[in-house]
Amino acid sequence: MTTWLNMTLQDGASPIMEQLIFFHDHTLMIMLMIITTVMYMMTTLLWNKHTSRFMLEGQLIETTWTIAPAIILVFIAMPSLRLLYLMDEIHNPTMTLKAVGHQWYWSYEYSDFTKLEFDSYMIPQEENQASTFRLLDTDNRIVLPMNSPIRLVVTAADVLHSWTIPSLGVKTDATPGRLNQVSFSINHPGILYGQCSEICGANHSFMPITIESVSANHFINWVSSLS
Ligand code: CUA
Repeated sequence: MTTWLNMTLQDGASPIMEQLIFFHDHTLMIMLMIITTVMYMMTTLLWNKHTSRFMLEGQLIETTWTIAPAIILVFIAMPSLRLLYLMDEIHNPTMTLKAVGHQWYWSYEYSDFTKLEFDSYMIPQEENQASTFRLLDTDNRIVLPMNSPIRLVVTAADVLHSWTIPSLGVKTDATPGRLNQVSFSINHPGILYGQCSEICGANHSFMPITIESVSANHFINWVSSLS
């Protein structure tokens, strides 16, 4: 989760998010090179005293400054497409989690197990204890096994919502009448926080997502204790 003075991306908790951070840094470096060059040229232009009354065209420079940006764009587009297809791929998921967006809470269904489904409401401010984070903790957390590929299917029951966990690199629209699919695997045990990120009504800010990432053994124990 984000803590004080963390103004950039959260640490990646899934292989995909780690790759997304690498891509972000890569693109930022290209941007930095462009900004530096343009700034240098603009300040130089302000102070130079050269004029040329007879220069009407420059075929070479115009060809150069048309093709150069196109080549730079290829260096951004190629890794971007690679990530796009990596995120689209489903690698033999060990289990499926179904998330349904409601006004204003999430409900979850573990379709691989019988009768394992529950609603997940935010813990309100008044009941908030020192051990929970304001606006981020839920009464029923999603429990998931770490280091295993998980398929997530997302839909909504009333209006548009969006199931978003920044540290996993997952952000999927929850649309009534549609079933969207993503996959991820969590790198380490711990608690991951997310929030709805589609403006979905009065209590949009109060339908967080909380994941408890545990070992496979703990997960099996949790499932068998419930069903
Ligand atoms: Cu649901 Cu915003």
